[in-house]
Amino acid sequence: MKYTSILLTGKGSTDKLQITQNELREPAAGEVRLKIICTGVGFTDVIMRTGYYPYAPKLPFVPGYELVGTVDAIGAGVKPELLGKRVAALTVHGGYSEYTYLPPDNLVPVPDGVDAAEALTLVLNYVTAYQMLHRVAKVQAGDSVLITGAGGGVGTALLELGRLAGLKMYGTGSKSKHATISALGGVPLDYTSGDWVKSVREQIGGAGVKAVFDGIGGDYLKRAYPLVAKGGHYVFYGLTGTVKNGKASTIAPLLTLARYGLRKIQPDGRKTAFYGVTTIYRKDTTPFKEDLAKLFDLLAAGKLHPVIVAKMPLRDAAKAQQMLERGAAGGKLILMPDL
Ligand SMILES: NC(=O)c1ccc[n+]([C@@H]2O[C@H](COP(=O)([O-])OP(=O)(O)OC[C@H]3O[C@@H](n4cnc5c(N)ncnc54)[C@H](OP(=O)(O)O)[C@@H]3O)[C@@H](O)[C@H]2O)c1
Repeated sequence: MKYTSILLTGKGSTDKLQITQNELREPAAGEVRLKIICTGVGFTDVIMRTGYYPYAPKLPFVPGYELVGTVDAIGAGVKPELLGKRVAALTVHGGYSEYTYLPPDNLVPVPDGVDAAEALTLVLNYVTAYQMLHRVAKVQAGDSVLITGAGGGVGTALLELGRLAGLKMYGTGSKSKHATISALGGVPLDYTSGDWVKSVREQIGGAGVKAVFDGIGGDYLKRAYPLVAKGGHYVFYGLTGTVKNGKASTIAPLLTLARYGLRKIQPDGRKTAFYGVTTIYRKDTTPFKEDLAKLFDLLAAGKLHPVIVAKMPLRDAAKAQQMLERGAAGGKLILMPDL
């Protein structure tokens, strides 16, 4: 039997994403086979396609950072009770496919009764947001924070979890994202016209915000960093703003590291942190598994309502990445092989 995957065949535009057929095999010893229910399309996939990403494998490879699927076969040595279970995994690559093979240790059970697509949004975006809020910046109720790219996948997760934590939130986004940012409890700031840095300053007063969560990078570091209060955190986690005309800058991450990465406390008393969900996961999978399980509980309890922009068939992976590059997605884009 054959199954379909989307293969990234080279760096460049979305025409490097090609539909490919593979032979379905039995799982090897110590491996499970997953029938993928859904996989996310995130801006990191675009960065992998267009340029620098430290954890991208050698080309060609199947992108897809996260997935929810059903264990449909198990290899020797795998606990039989896993068979038929719905599980989630942070794969970094491999999700744009009808099937994949993984070691069981990498799987987190998805509770019965929760929607698979909603569960999927938690795997990358919500864990990233949760860990930045609670493991890095350690925010407290009443703190004010600034979220850049607040209308995007991670941005909307930061807003929803920030609201649960009782934060006062400011979020940058183009006008098309303002309704979403407001609905999630943020004060929307239009970065495309006027001076949003001045506008935040006027609203927060002289002291500054307790934390900035920045997924845009580039000149945002210069502009948003001074908005952090003394002792507060500048948490940097993405480079969306450095992808121009289908190319990602390789210089920007290096300059950023040189300027802010060499020490955790800057001479002016502000703290800087480079957050990477995969950097932590590669060292120890426990925090990821613990945090995802907590988020699944919140979802099952009806406390989270992730913003899903579109559910698309697997063959539309290129279209989904183009939507992200145009900034058209206000939330999570999901590929579903069965559509
Ligand atoms: N470090 C980690 O562990 C980690 C984990 C997940 C994601 N990431 C990174 O986080 C970033 C965001 O990912 P995502 O999947 O949430 O992306 P996304 O859904 O595309 O959201 C990014 C948002 O930024 C806005 N934006 C785009 N270009 C901009 C610019 N030049 N200036 C200001 N705003 C701009 C877009 O909307 P508007 O322009 O319409 O406002 C969009 O809503 C990416 O760089 C991704 O690689 C990092």
